[in-house]
Amino acid sequence: MSEALDTDKLEREVKSMYQEVAESSDAEFHFETGRDLAVRLGYDPDDLDYVPDVAIDSFAGVGYYFDVAELESGADVLDLGSGSGMDAFVAGLHVTETGAVTGIDMTTEQVEKANDLATDNGFHNVTFREGYIEELPFEDASFDAVISNGVLNLSAEKRTVFEEANRVLKPGGQLALSDIVSEQRMPESIKSDADLWAACIGGAEQIGSYTRLIEAAGFSVTETRENTQYEFLSDRAANACGKYGVKSVTVGAIK
Ligand SMILES: C[S@@+](CC[C@H](N)C(=O)[O-])C[C@H]1O[C@@H](n2cnc3c(N)ncnc32)[C@H](O)[C@@H]1O
Repeated sequence: MSEALDTDKLEREVKSMYQEVAESSDAEFHFETGRDLAVRLGYDPDDLDYVPDVAIDSFAGVGYYFDVAELESGADVLDLGSGSGMDAFVAGLHVTETGAVTGIDMTTEQVEKANDLATDNGFHNVTFREGYIEELPFEDASFDAVISNGVLNLSAEKRTVFEEANRVLKPGGQLALSDIVSEQRMPESIKSDADLWAACIGGAEQIGSYTRLIEAAGFSVTETRENTQYEFLSDRAANACGKYGVKSVTVGAIK
């Protein structure tokens, strides 16, 4: 993390942006949202047919990782930064009624919306909690899999998040996620700019350092692949992609 980054400002900006995503999915953001994006990234349209449309409309993920996660029936799954709930609902389908999915997110409006959708659409095995991914409110070894989509880049404490993910996983448990990373190290002027962090650029860790953090937390990385189908919409974000190789990747790892 940059010494000069104002983390309180970053949290306010991220919460405000994702409150807007929860409340008005048709607003314009620097990133794409919705079903077309999900299908392009690789989600199975048959799965999406069972997920509440409103959750799909607010989907703000950056890649597809369910082929890496291979969630089994009966598994307990944790979704870090669950947003309006689309991935948690897809996971809920994969683990079936004998499994359970918990989503955690720091933005109140996202958690309330996702919980309402779970109740209204009969997803009895999916629940959402408000909280921080840097301080997970769960016992050690509680989950078979930890999943996440487009979230870790927003955290100024990535090392802590990976350590927390490792702590709450059972031995042999899986980490599967998609996130934004960079090829080049970005200058301090970008890494200390809370606006650019909230736009999913400033917090993009260099890919080598990102996978080293995962391994240092106690995982073995099993897969890293680029999601070339993912594109940023704003000129500012697109410029950063060209200049610093900011891109989406899917990573799989085992505890
Ligand atoms: C890009 S959105 C992705 C949401 C969801 N995973 C999806 O694919 O639609 C990022 C989400 O992470 C949440 N978030 C960001 N930083 C967080 C943190 N430190 N702790 C908990 N949630 C966080 C935001 O509130 C937001 O809902």
